[in-house]
Amino acid sequence: MPYDFDRIIDRRGTQCEKWDGMEEHYGVSPGDGISMWVADMEFRPPPAVAQAFKWEMEHGVHGYWADSGQYKQAIVNWMARRHNWSIEPSWISTTHGIVMAVNMLVQAFCKPGDKVIIQTPVYYPFAFAVAANGCQVINNRLVKENGRYVMDLDDLKRQADGQTRMIILCSPHNPGGRVWSKEELEALAEICLSRNILMVSDEIHHDLVYPGAKHTVLASLSPELQDKVVVCTSASKTFNLAGTMTGNVIIANEELRKQFTDHLYKCGMFLPNRFGPIAARAAYNHGEGWLDALLLYLEENRNLIASVLENRLPAVKSMPLEGTYLAWLDFSGMDAPMDEIVRKVEKEARLALNHGDTFGPGGENHLRMNFACPRLMVEQALERLIKAFV
Ligand SMILES: Cc1ncc(COP(=O)(O)O)c(C=O)c1O
Repeated sequence: MPYDFDRIIDRRGTQCEKWDGMEEHYGVSPGDGISMWVADMEFRPPPAVAQAFKWEMEHGVHGYWADSGQYKQAIVNWMARRHNWSIEPSWISTTHGIVMAVNMLVQAFCKPGDKVIIQTPVYYPFAFAVAANGCQVINNRLVKENGRYVMDLDDLKRQADGQTRMIILCSPHNPGGRVWSKEELEALAEICLSRNILMVSDEIHHDLVYPGAKHTVLASLSPELQDKVVVCTSASKTFNLAGTMTGNVIIANEELRKQFTDHLYKCGMFLPNRFGPIAARAAYNHGEGWLDALLLYLEENRNLIASVLENRLPAVKSMPLEGTYLAWLDFSGMDAPMDEIVRKVEKEARLALNHGDTFGPGGENHLRMNFACPRLMVEQALERLIKAFV
């Protein structure tokens, strides 16, 4: 394999939230623990990113950044090549990451008291973004069907009323690993459009999809829909550039886009951090081979977790993942209180995993395991889990 995903890179003591923050969050020491919480990867990005940074360092002057057109063009090309969605550079606004984008979208399109729907359990900053901006969080809980999540559209219809302004969709879904089908997205969109609910589709995990599933960009479903929705993407999950905090908000409709960019300017968000677009452009333009190799590696990690748990710890159910590198582990078959399970995971297995309840209703009894790491780490983590519980 031309890319060495097996290589263990020690990130401890490198101002790294995942490793240097694990003790504070989970009481698991980086000295003997394995960190599998924050959603970034243990891998170096495509070599083109280091080359782009090398050029920048050798040039040595890091002033304000200006897009010569090449950054946005790289995104346009990527969306056309990998996602079959044709966009214009002018549709793209650059933000300091997607969490910031989601917060700003709530600010730009909702007023305090408005209702915003999220589909829990879901990436927890969605609920924070809604509540922190004075809006009401409406939980449209996902339901499990054949072990995987599906949307409860009847519940959505019941809950959506005249005060409901927005839905924040997680597509692919974190933490459930669902890659929503075209039909599921169409059914959801029909309800939202008919009720004038603005759809914000966070597609940050769009490139991390396994064979058998296909990601559909929400806006690509129809020209009518494209004119009414907001799509958020980023190179940060795809190429492990999370620390560069750079996201893309893609809005085809001119009026909606203006409403959003006016808000960005009101917040002083005129220019992105210089390093984010430099890295992302290099990765989009030259990282495709790396991504294809990464996906094969991640798929094997995913399969390993599923088969080891099924054979040796069947009380723990790993949701079948169609996308993302986040295993969603259901411990409800353990017949033990969750605080006792968490104690064993953290104190005995010495694993730092996200607690499921932080993802909102439906997340109880689950832990989320980030397996974007060398195989050896996955193997060790599984052995530790088995030792703690069997
Ligand atoms: C669905 C989703 N959106 C956004 C983010 C983070 O985005 P950013 O780091 O660009 O703020 C994550 C990170 O895990 C995520 O899973």
